[in-house]
Amino acid sequence: MTDSISVEMTDRGVTTLTITRPEKLNALNVETLESIADALADVEPDTRALILTGAGDRSFVAGADISYMQDLSTPEAQAYAELGHHVMDALSAFPAPTIAAINGYAFGGGLELTLACDIRIAAENAILGHTEIDLGIIPGWGGTQRLPRLVGDERARRMIFFGDRIDAETAAEYGLVSEVMPAEELTTHVNEMADVLAFKPQVALRAAKEAVSLATETTLDAGLSFEQRAWSGLFGTDDQQEGMAAFLEDRDPAFE
Ligand code: COA
Repeated sequence: MTDSISVEMTDRGVTTLTITRPEKLNALNVETLESIADALADVEPDTRALILTGAGDRSFVAGADISYMQDLSTPEAQAYAELGHHVMDALSAFPAPTIAAINGYAFGGGLELTLACDIRIAAENAILGHTEIDLGIIPGWGGTQRLPRLVGDERARRMIFFGDRIDAETAAEYGLVSEVMPAEELTTHVNEMADVLAFKPQVALRAAKEAVSLATETTLDAGLSFEQRAWSGLFGTDDQQEGMAAFLEDRDPAFE
């Protein structure tokens, strides 16, 4: 827990990381980014599913901190970009599944945080956008690369060129979020999803995440080859033996 984030973990290893600068709509200043990076490293060994959300009922994260960015020189901007990329990469490479609970505004760096997660669920009042163009800049923490991979090339170009702010239903049509929930149901729903994931076989879940991530990061041949190795590597694990025995014995599996 720092002033800008809070971290909670359940007994089963569901970690909720909440960005807590509600007075600035959870905008990401340097301290917040550093706290997120530290927290991800701290909780990684014990986390079976990670939820990322924003404090308050108006905003997930309203973006990078515009007051901080206003007077940056190019070298200072480069350092801020590197810090932002470090956080997004740590989130993207986080071994356990990650869910963004988008409880309001997700602009710029806030949208980029969601793009680095595995699953995005939005509240009905969420508004999302890559709004950087109207600040005279472009997405700088992965948005130009991750958004087209998720929503397709032209949609991403349109979102980034026009800087439009889209509502949750439109985001769902674009495939940018996979579900839209009434705001008051978002936390319960996301917690239930994370609980289900926390009871899945963890070695297999991590292998699945790594393999699917490769689909957009490498050639088809390299991805298929990784899949074969990862698949066969799971044989002999306790969870593989338990999962298959449970099926054949007609009972529920109890994974490690
Ligand atoms: N960086 C720094 N501060 C931010 C911020 C950001 N990205 N987004 C909001 N804030 C601050 C505001 O400056 C304001 O601070 P203040 O009370 O000290 O003046 C506070 O958060 C509340 O925001 P405000 O604009 O007054 O609320 P609103 O309800 O009128 O509008 C938004 C909310 C999100 C629509 C508006 O703040 C906004 O457009 N923010 C910028 C979004 C953006 O372009 N993000 C991408 C950055 S790369």
